Amino acid sequence: MTFSRTFPDGFLWGTATASYQIEGAVAEDGRSPSIWDTFSHTPGTVTGGDTGDVACDHYHRVDEDVAIMRSLGVDAYRFSIAWPRVIPTGTGAVNQAGIDFYSRLVDTLLENGIRPFATLYHWDLPQALDDRGGWLNRDVADWFAEYAAVTVGALGDRVRNWTTLNEPWCSSLLSYSIGHHAPGHTDPLEGIVAAHHLMLAHGRAVPVIREHCAAAEVSITLNPTQVYGPEGTGEGVVDEADADAIRRADNIFNGLFFDPIFRAAYPDGFLEDTAHLTDHGYIHDGDLGVMAAPLDNLGINNYFPTRVRAARDGEEGMPLAGCEGVVESPPLPPHTAMGWEISPKAHYDILLRSAKDGGLPIYITENGSAWPDIVSPDGEVHDPQRIEYLHGHLGAVADAIEDGADIRGYFAWSLLDNFEWAHGYGKRFGLVYVDYATQQRIVKDSGREYARIVASSR
Ligand code: FCB
Repeated sequence: MTFSRTFPDGFLWGTATASYQIEGAVAEDGRSPSIWDTFSHTPGTVTGGDTGDVACDHYHRVDEDVAIMRSLGVDAYRFSIAWPRVIPTGTGAVNQAGIDFYSRLVDTLLENGIRPFATLYHWDLPQALDDRGGWLNRDVADWFAEYAAVTVGALGDRVRNWTTLNEPWCSSLLSYSIGHHAPGHTDPLEGIVAAHHLMLAHGRAVPVIREHCAAAEVSITLNPTQVYGPEGTGEGVVDEADADAIRRADNIFNGLFFDPIFRAAYPDGFLEDTAHLTDHGYIHDGDLGVMAAPLDNLGINNYFPTRVRAARDGEEGMPLAGCEGVVESPPLPPHTAMGWEISPKAHYDILLRSAKDGGLPIYITENGSAWPDIVSPDGEVHDPQRIEYLHGHLGAVADAIEDGADIRGYFAWSLLDNFEWAHGYGKRFGLVYVDYATQQRIVKDSGREYARIVASSR
């Protein structure tokens, strides 16, 4: 099956990774532990007891990994910076060796004609800051602004594309209410307090980035999900209780971030729906104005839709504020190895919605799929399902552009198989296979197909 859709001139093709998922070298050159080091070393948190101690050893393999990107022909690379490498104690003394690592990465990318897209925070908060309350401590906004100043000050002469946060939904709700990610708390209220402080930190960092990089294009990456009822995609027949469940789920998954950032307000009904938990004293006068700092573009990560319905007869709902009566219903087939529903239609829907709600140019900063890849006797990795997912989702992107969404680029998740958070190394998302025993990289069939699509779109 060949993919032959066209994309606008200048459409940017990239791949993405994140620091803790690929770097390894966790105790080298002055890096301090992050909350993910602590979490992954806590028994029972990550499948198989996996940790990011070595990961893809990218810290020592920058040249090789950039050479692979070049062989794929991509225009851009999205990576994240590990705060505990740059400021090991979270605030205060700067670790020059940490800066030097990213500086060399950036130089290597530029020498190879690859545009760097840097994310300041992809979940590896210095443990030293978690010891002071982490994202529950309002001071984190100052700490983050300080870290942004140092980092952009060091790299902003060469990096123009700056993203404050990756998926604040995950570093708040998934981490403080659901407990699936570091620091592993399970408190419905903590999730929304952490979300508030994340957005405050984001808003504080935006002008700091501009101050240290006059040419900056500043962004945040959100992970909105299209919320449907339990039935088939596009079928909208729901009763009143299910419609309210969809509204509440949409607020906590999407509106909680879109509305403060783009409307300087909490989503309609959200403060009332959560009033049984809090008087919302963590929201101070002026916070929403800070959060709504103007941005240049919006990053969207999207993999799957979400299906919900109202809880029935005492059924337990989701452990998320305001969603106590909302039940997540099973994803419809087909599924990826993550159990995630495959729906290009949902990808299209959320792209159009994000374009409308954000009113900004969009980069798809992550999209991809996990499959149980193996190295075949011929030494290759044949992954037709990843290719099919890629074709389906790129088709949805092309449709969304035709229907008016201003989408400027697509970053495949991921360049390499890597440490997939609480799932460990068992879930492979790469266009490039990593043999973790030897650190050998093998470009998968999907990697070659991506390279072909990139080349043919020029
Ligand atoms: C996203 C994360 C990314 C990766 C993919 C599969 O939520 O941002 O680090 O784990 O999911």
